[in-house]
Amino acid sequence: MIINRLIVKNWRNFQQINVPLRERQFIVGPNASGKSNLLDIFRFLRDIAKAEGGGLQKAISDRVGVSKIRCLSAGQDTEVAIEIHIADTPDAPATWRYGIGFHHEDHKHRQTYLTHERVWRDGELLLDRPDADDNRDPDRLTQTALEQIAANAKFREIGGFLRNVTYLHLIPQLIRFADSIQGKIIEDDPFGQAFLERIASVHPNTRRARVKKIEHALKTVIPQFEKLEFIRDNAGQPHLRSRYSHWCSNEKGQQENQFSEGTFRLIGLLWSLLESDSIILFEEPELSLNIGIVSQLAPLISRMRRNKRCQVFVSTQSDVLLIEPGIDGTEVLMLTPSEEGTIVKPASDFDDVCVLLKNGFTVGEVVLTKPTEQLSLLE
Ligand SMILES: Nc1ncnc2c1ncn2[C@@H]1O[C@H](COP(=O)(O)OP(=O)(O)O)[C@@H](O)[C@H]1O
Ligand SMILES: [Mg+2]
Repeated sequence: MIINRLIVKNWRNFQQINVPLRERQFIVGPNASGKSNLLDIFRFLRDIAKAEGGGLQKAISDRVGVSKIRCLSAGQDTEVAIEIHIADTPDAPATWRYGIGFHHEDHKHRQTYLTHERVWRDGELLLDRPDADDNRDPDRLTQTALEQIAANAKFREIGGFLRNVTYLHLIPQLIRFADSIQGKIIEDDPFGQAFLERIASVHPNTRRARVKKIEHALKTVIPQFEKLEFIRDNAGQPHLRSRYSHWCSNEKGQQENQFSEGTFRLIGLLWSLLESDSIILFEEPELSLNIGIVSQLAPLISRMRRNKRCQVFVSTQSDVLLIEPGIDGTEVLMLTPSEEGTIVKPASDFDDVCVLLKNGFTVGEVVLTKPTEQLSLLE
């Protein structure tokens, strides 16, 4: 399943968003245009749906309240609203639609109240709040049905899907020193210290197959890369070991604490592509990967998720990342700051972009080149 449409009102620096989404979606825009804020919408939905320690109030207080979330340039209509369409493919009609809206918290009780919560399955409205129970007891509107086992029976699939949203931000320093900081594992850290344990917890056959695929992918992007293995040391601790065909590489190879930061992040990304059946959010990977790998990332994402149903969002400011000729204009969301908040549109909505793409330019050349320089592309 993937989210094939996102509709948003008054979220951070966006007054309105209404865009179709693809399985591989790049998000480009200048600094402070809202790339992180856009990715945070999916993390927010995950936080609401979380099985433990989740819920609407926590998701909002983690973001320091509705006043920080609501768009500062919002007009009279101060409701913040999010709606997602979930479908099997980008062009399929939505199997599920989930929407919520909420208002500024009540200062006395420091609670946020829902203005609505709706769920549709195959176009049929299954949940429409506020309902009679909410009207009788308005405090019920401080919780979504999504976060309550007793209330979400008819649409638990949505919660399961959203709970598995993965936000990738590797902290290699933490994995390297996992021994010395053992026991202080950061909550929800998808790859940091918990990464090796996560690999270790998978069935050996599955793990072997995934490690093999990752090894193959690494061979295509890292010169002289030869072997990747999962091992346990004498104390039973899990490790990854790699070997290069380098003259300086020793017989036993390198353990993860000797990997380069970039290699680590790449292994983390590849693992999650093989593992996820939900959404992966990857924030500005060019900041942590070397340029050779960045240029390979887009095709790598397609290849690794080929048989998988996961959806990948990548925010970037790197033209190199978008250099692959196979990237379609619909796969790129362009963020353009304006007085009324940032505008979000697929690159394929811009006529001039389409002309350049038809003329054989790559998305990277077109969307990350300044308008003045674009003219020279056409000459
Ligand atoms: N509630 C809000 N209303 C309007 N703008 C906001 C709000 N919250 C954050 N911003 C703005 O969003 C911008 C940061 O967006 P961010 O997602 O970090 O950008 P990027 O990741 O593209 O660099 C900042 O300029 C900040 O002022
Ligand atoms: Mg950012």
